[in-house]
Amino acid sequence: MEVLPVLNQNKQRYLDELMGWLRIPSVSADPKFNDDMFEAAEFLKKHLEEAGAVNCELIPTDGFPVVYGEKIVDPAKPTVLVYGHYDVQPADPYELWKSPPFEPEVRNERIYARGSCDDKGQVYMHVKALEIMTGMNALPCNVKFMFEGEEEIGSIHLDDFLSKNKEKLKADVVLVSDTSMIANDCPSITVGLRGLSYMEVEVTGANRDLHSGVYGGAVANPINVLARMITSLKDENFRITIPGFYDDVVEYTAEQRAEMAKRPFELEDYKKELGISDIEGETGFTTIERATIRPTLDCNGIWGGYTGAGAKTVLPSKATAKISMRLVPNQSSAKITEIFTRHIMSIAPKSVTVKVMAHHGGEAAMTPTDSLAYAAASKAMEKSFGKKPIPTFEGGSIPVVASFKKILGLNTVLMGFGLDIDALHSPNESYGLFNFYKGIETIPYFYHYYAELAGK
Ligand code: BES
Ligand code: MN
Ligand code: MN
Repeated sequence: MEVLPVLNQNKQRYLDELMGWLRIPSVSADPKFNDDMFEAAEFLKKHLEEAGAVNCELIPTDGFPVVYGEKIVDPAKPTVLVYGHYDVQPADPYELWKSPPFEPEVRNERIYARGSCDDKGQVYMHVKALEIMTGMNALPCNVKFMFEGEEEIGSIHLDDFLSKNKEKLKADVVLVSDTSMIANDCPSITVGLRGLSYMEVEVTGANRDLHSGVYGGAVANPINVLARMITSLKDENFRITIPGFYDDVVEYTAEQRAEMAKRPFELEDYKKELGISDIEGETGFTTIERATIRPTLDCNGIWGGYTGAGAKTVLPSKATAKISMRLVPNQSSAKITEIFTRHIMSIAPKSVTVKVMAHHGGEAAMTPTDSLAYAAASKAMEKSFGKKPIPTFEGGSIPVVASFKKILGLNTVLMGFGLDIDALHSPNESYGLFNFYKGIETIPYFYHYYAELAGK
């Protein structure tokens, strides 16, 4: 199967098409981009069709539609279900972008745009890999595609979608490119992702803002109370203090941790790349462990009081914080949400009123390394990168991976091509051209090896 000649001939066109798609601001979180969401979905459907998929459609959900398409070469052959998302994170703060987030630009061999890596760039690799395979009439297995538009807002309607479309989505394995590798010269396959509980805490004091001279010192300040409560959620060893929080956390054996520690990692480079002088985290664990196999609690946003120019002497009436917890396999997002709520209420002083709300959540996921699909992904990457990929845990979340297992009974292979330097969710998100083209090269190899290993 000669993928490279076709790929090399068409590189510029693939890139131009992707840039066209990146120009559509498909931000799922902000209603202002609703029309763009549909436009981005239509664009994807059209290009999936042109690449050789049939029965392409936008399947409505109670939120944004799922883009579906398939190519069944022989019902007796194994079927791969490819998942990805066409929605992107908001681009704010805009002023920190060197080139505008929705006007993609190539600089130093990288595409700069919101969604360039997460996940439009990686989804588009699958579309072009399909085009190459159907163009050569060489697709060795069946493929179904489902691309959602709500991943960045918690895949809120996707479990329902999976339950209602079990027959249509019948497959042998799920293939996802929405994760990262260790480095371009050190390919890896993700085998674990964290789960999530995302909360909001609102603290209300007096029935109005107060003069901080007249009332200060005598009446509770909601900002101070909120800050105090958040601070108390971790002890001096950076352990989370919510009773029961660690009850279900899986502890890894010394052997497993030693295996994990083999992964190349340079603390000095890590700090330098982030512009920090030191790191911090839970005592007794390495940086890699803290960022992948340990649960976390972080404040993602906090506001209240006067934030305008100059100084205003005021005790605000309200303060609010968004707090997220990353969870590990075996922890339940619903249970963590419940014990977080109970704990916050139990530490709330009588001087204020506290409200706790839950945003989205999702379960952690582990994917097997002893499956045929993992073996196929490993062989495919070994062929394209010239090096056998290593299995790695990652700290991000893709809640639908747990749902694929629970609702469809399917295992997932997380064969992603991003890098930590891609700045996902951050200004100046980018994706290496090397990675984009490597992905397009590797995916057909995956189909090839998977069909070979799983085919009858
Ligand atoms: N693609 C990411 C998740 C990811 C990034 C996994 C890097 C591994 C490495 C995904 O789009 C994402 O951002 N997920 C959200 C999930 C949330 C909105 C439910 C996350 O992790 O914050
Ligand atoms: Mn993603
Ligand atoms: Mn994301």
